[in-house]
Amino acid sequence: MRTVAEAWQAGRERLTALGVEEAAITAEVLLRHALDLTRTQFHVAWNQPVPDEARTRYLGYVGERARGRPLAYIVGHREFMGLDFLVDERVLIPRPETEVLVEVVLELVRGTTSPAVADVGTGSGAIAVSVAVLRPDAAVVATDLSVAALEVARANASRHAVAERVTFLAGDLLDPVIGAGWRLDALVCNPPYVAPEAAAGLPREIREFEPALAVVAPGCCESIHARLVDAAPGALRPGGWLVLEVAAGQAPRVVELIQQRAGYEAVQVRRDGLGWDRVVAARWLNE
Ligand SMILES: C[S@@+](CC[C@H](N)C(=O)[O-])C[C@H]1O[C@@H](n2cnc3c(N)ncnc32)[C@H](O)[C@@H]1O
Repeated sequence: MRTVAEAWQAGRERLTALGVEEAAITAEVLLRHALDLTRTQFHVAWNQPVPDEARTRYLGYVGERARGRPLAYIVGHREFMGLDFLVDERVLIPRPETEVLVEVVLELVRGTTSPAVADVGTGSGAIAVSVAVLRPDAAVVATDLSVAALEVARANASRHAVAERVTFLAGDLLDPVIGAGWRLDALVCNPPYVAPEAAAGLPREIREFEPALAVVAPGCCESIHARLVDAAPGALRPGGWLVLEVAAGQAPRVVELIQQRAGYEAVQVRRDGLGWDRVVAARWLNE
């Protein structure tokens, strides 16, 4: 295991033997991380020797991945909406299917000048920071019950030079937003939506490594959706949008929750890139 090629091969074989999916690309990402190389530099260095310290780091990373630690936590970042986000065990790893949530929000506020947008349960800040980057005139407020998650989100806002336009507030769902007197053009949330009784059936990577607060909804899977449908009118301007991510199969129930609450209109369901109903949106008119 002297050269980059030999180290990659050995890592790939070890990961494959331990049943890790996508072993080849995983070994490459881990080796590049240990060597601090871009993809191009990695291929140029293919027949070069691997320094001892880098080899030790690499073997450590392979071991962590083999024990189930998600790749994004090992390398410390994940791409979302074409932007690079810092992530660690304090936050959920942003998922590609959540990108449609950002796209829907951007579309719904397209005609609004300087829109005010809230991201409730911001985690890494992926949604809040993406909206702020892609709508440079937007004012964004991002909340989370987890103070530790907000530290990561703040770091991501600074990393993408939008810290001055994203306000971070700790607290339960919309309480801090309403308390601070925000009137919103859009309120977006990707809530925890796994029912407690289903948590034991989650893949080990999620169950053992991602924060339970980010994944498991207290009480039942749609409990946070229900609370937001109820509370959003206290923060939305007339004509403002509530935009919620839902799990596969959850959209009809969330649509029903919205329809039961008088004052919403234009209820709509949008699909993610894989064709699953992923987003439920509705416009708040008034009581
Ligand atoms: C599914 S994660 C979403 C994270 C991020 N928005 C994303 O899409 O990648 C849900 C987030 O909601 C936060 N959360 C859970 N319950 C909350 C509550 N009652 N009030 C505020 N945030 C909450 C969790 O800490 C977590 O960061």
